[in-house]
Amino acid sequence: MFRLHFALLALAWALLQIDLIRIPLPQAYASPTPTKKHWKSQRPESSYARRNFETISRIYNLTVYPNQLPIFQAGGVGVPKGLFSANPVGRVDPVGTFTDFEHSIEYFFALSPLPEANPVRAAITGYQITEFSSQCRNVAASIVYLYCSVVNPGSPDHGKPLPPLKQVAFWRFNKCGAVKKYDAWIPNLNSWFEATTASYVTDPVFRNASIEQICGATQMRCQGPNAQWSSVGECVAALSQKTYGSYDEVWGDNIVCRSIHLVLTQVRPDVHCPHVGPTGGGKCVDVAYPKNYFSDEALYGQPTGETFMCD
Ligand SMILES: *[C@@H]1O[C@H](CO)[C@@H](O)[C@H](O)[C@H]1NC(C)=O
Ligand SMILES: *[C@@H]1O[C@H](CO)[C@@H](O)[C@H](O)[C@H]1NC(C)=O
Repeated sequence: MFRLHFALLALAWALLQIDLIRIPLPQAYASPTPTKKHWKSQRPESSYARRNFETISRIYNLTVYPNQLPIFQAGGVGVPKGLFSANPVGRVDPVGTFTDFEHSIEYFFALSPLPEANPVRAAITGYQITEFSSQCRNVAASIVYLYCSVVNPGSPDHGKPLPPLKQVAFWRFNKCGAVKKYDAWIPNLNSWFEATTASYVTDPVFRNASIEQICGATQMRCQGPNAQWSSVGECVAALSQKTYGSYDEVWGDNIVCRSIHLVLTQVRPDVHCPHVGPTGGGKCVDVAYPKNYFSDEALYGQPTGETFMCD
């Protein structure tokens, strides 16, 4: 199954290459380059601030389609060296916490929407770091706008802007300038989802359709030792009993959580299939507020309030 899947991805990638060569994306979308004017807020313009800005910029550049594809296909080995340390840990509100390299890079890059995998053909096609500060070597804060648009070469909609996403983050870097710890927040994720897809998570017709879709994909991708359900019907019956949820709180034993982790079953089915199954596999489980987003000491391994302070 894995091999078949890999072959399909490789095929999709190859086809995409053809598309990209034949019909290049508009320049503004293809090569988002943060302009130098962001540096005006830096006085003095230190070398570490510049270095940290470049690291953050390169990380977000890899969420821009199709830059994430090599990572989507190959996982961590597809991530350029120097961006993340060997063992990064972090939190992304409202999605969850990530405690190793593969989970971190999957969160940052493999969840970036693939146009061929969603009906709107949405993708992140540009980014801009709109706010940035780094007053010491080890710590930086940033806000990025992730600009989205339709990627559907040949269609009249191609390049049509879609609502952007925002991410607010604090970062801690190791000695080499790679990200070691992060605390990030995507505000208004549910509004973004609804405005982009014109689907409403409170709509019962949408809910049923999405459960059917999750169950169909789960049965296709999670087979053999990774199987979660005996049939699509069993899956639909069980998931229909669960809370649907909202994209403003994805972490839970609900459907929105499974819809996100379903994307990752394409990357590492052995790890992610349990997350979309009956128990949520330790990821799509209910962790009551505030424990889910305030367990700094357990997550970062140091007392609350120290991680993102300058030494
Ligand atoms: C973004 O990534 C692409 C592909 O890896 C690269 O060609 C481009 O130069 C990068 N742009 C920036 C601003 O880093
Ligand atoms: C959604 O699915 C449930 C359970 O399968 C069913 O009872 C309900 O009628 C369906 N609602 C709609 C609007 O299709």
